[in-house]
Amino acid sequence: MTKSLSRETIIVIKSTAPALQQHGVEITTRMYERLFVDPEIKALFDLAAQKSGEQPKRLAAAILAFAQNADKLDALKPAIERIAARHIATHIRPEHYPAVANALLPAIEDVLGDAVDERVLAAWGEAYWFLAEVLISREKTLYAEAA
Ligand code: HEM
Repeated sequence: MTKSLSRETIIVIKSTAPALQQHGVEITTRMYERLFVDPEIKALFDLAAQKSGEQPKRLAAAILAFAQNADKLDALKPAIERIAARHIATHIRPEHYPAVANALLPAIEDVLGDAVDERVLAAWGEAYWFLAEVLISREKTLYAEAA
């Protein structure tokens, strides 16, 4: 891990995570509405749903929960391994990560409205990309090992 979240970001994430999780279902629903406008991204989830037999609707909620522990990456290691393995199985690539950021952050804004400001959105953006880089790096190794 080459960098970590700033102290300021960790404080903002921890103070806003409960509110985001309280509205988790709404945020998740809104995120998928935004995400699935892109047929290529939607197809990745259709494939996953067929394989696992369930709708992958927990992704946004997991990201919200996950970000709360972004300052304790050691504790997240088993979860990172599981997610990376699932992402490899569903052919998730680095170029897919911006789509989730571009769906999740506006979804937070849509649902929480005036309760979020630029500072909160910037902190969540930083936390998302921090976790994304951890996953992308692990997935790169797993794809290389599988090749
Ligand atoms: C920081 C970013 C991300 C986090 C924290 C995250 C987290 C997760 C989690 C917790 C799961 C469930 C793993 C399990 O089965 O136990 C998952 C599965 C999945 N993720 Fe991600 N993810 C991220 C980015 C992405 C991106 C960018 C895509 C594609 C656009 C994606 C697509 C999927 C798919 C298709 C599944 C499989 C769902 C299923 O099992 O049916 N994820 N992810």
